[in-house]
Amino acid sequence: MATTLMERETGQAVIAISGLRKSYGKLTAVKHVDLEIRRGEVFGILGPNGAGKTTTLEMIEGLRKPDAGTNTVSGIDAVRQPARLKEIIGVQLQSTALFTHLTNFELLKLFSSFYQHGMTDRELEGLLAEVNLMEKKNSKVQELSGGQQQRLSIVLTLVNKPQVVFLDEPTTGLDPQARRNLWDLVRQINANGQTVVLTTHYMEEAETLCDRIAIMDHGEVLALDTPRGLINGLNLPPLITGSTVRPLPLDRVQALPGVQEARLDDAGFEIRTDQPQETLVGLLRMSTEQGLELSNLQVRSGNLEDVFINLTGRSLRS
Ligand SMILES: Nc1ncnc2c1ncn2[C@@H]1O[C@H](COP(=O)(O)OP(=O)(O)O)[C@@H](O)[C@H]1O
Ligand SMILES: [Mg+2]
Repeated sequence: MATTLMERETGQAVIAISGLRKSYGKLTAVKHVDLEIRRGEVFGILGPNGAGKTTTLEMIEGLRKPDAGTNTVSGIDAVRQPARLKEIIGVQLQSTALFTHLTNFELLKLFSSFYQHGMTDRELEGLLAEVNLMEKKNSKVQELSGGQQQRLSIVLTLVNKPQVVFLDEPTTGLDPQARRNLWDLVRQINANGQTVVLTTHYMEEAETLCDRIAIMDHGEVLALDTPRGLINGLNLPPLITGSTVRPLPLDRVQALPGVQEARLDDAGFEIRTDQPQETLVGLLRMSTEQGLELSNLQVRSGNLEDVFINLTGRSLRS
């Protein structure tokens, strides 16, 4: 189902979630989640391990039953109409869970047979070609690299031409190149008009891939916006970072024009400044005077990590 730019901008909801809650015994994994996900967007749920991302996703997919709340995909209720829901969504499974005695193409055919509107062999071959796995058509899953396995597990979500594709931490464990390839694949799926909902704990992934992001922690959505919107909302002055072999003199760094906050140690420096250009000029002059070479010099505005720290007081990585 292709979407037009107009549909995306007017933000017609494809997924509507209201008051979703789920406990495991005494642990409330998801406290209260309200979300609207728009048709045609790449929507990210960003949060650390244990935030409740998988539990939320699997309730939306109709795989876990919520304790409270409702959730629909294209108006189909996940709890009351799970069989109908299954036909219009694609859910990524862990590739390690795939049957290892079948070839990749046999797997695709098997998965396709689970649906009323599965794909023909030709269409399945087209899918394999699109993700550069055609030459692996008759190989088995265990003969694929990690990145290829992950691509296959995503292709398997597409065999019923779903309206919405759900990916749970699709790039965890992949090397940077395989991760970029996977991002391209997600963009390609989205360009075909399919809505993508993914979870991640990589802020860079959320920032570059997602149209909108819900930041989740301890079973709650703490913020929801475009990556730009979240970052701009912080109003954080630019950050200059770099390293020196010995620390720069703190009092003199603090006295540079624009500097609001400075942290220095043996490993390097982090300087918040609202006049990055002037601060940099002063910094370069000072380092020359001191005979200290600056390396790894970077200037950046806020990122999603800063947003997360601002919301929770913790780092996303910790
Ligand atoms: N089947 C389960 N039984 C008991 N506890 C669970 C189960 N699944 C998840 N949890 C717990 O619920 C919390 C949220 O888990 P999860 O939804 O997997 O978070 P995330 O995907 O963000 O890492 C965690 O504390 C986790 O240990
Ligand atoms: Mg998870």
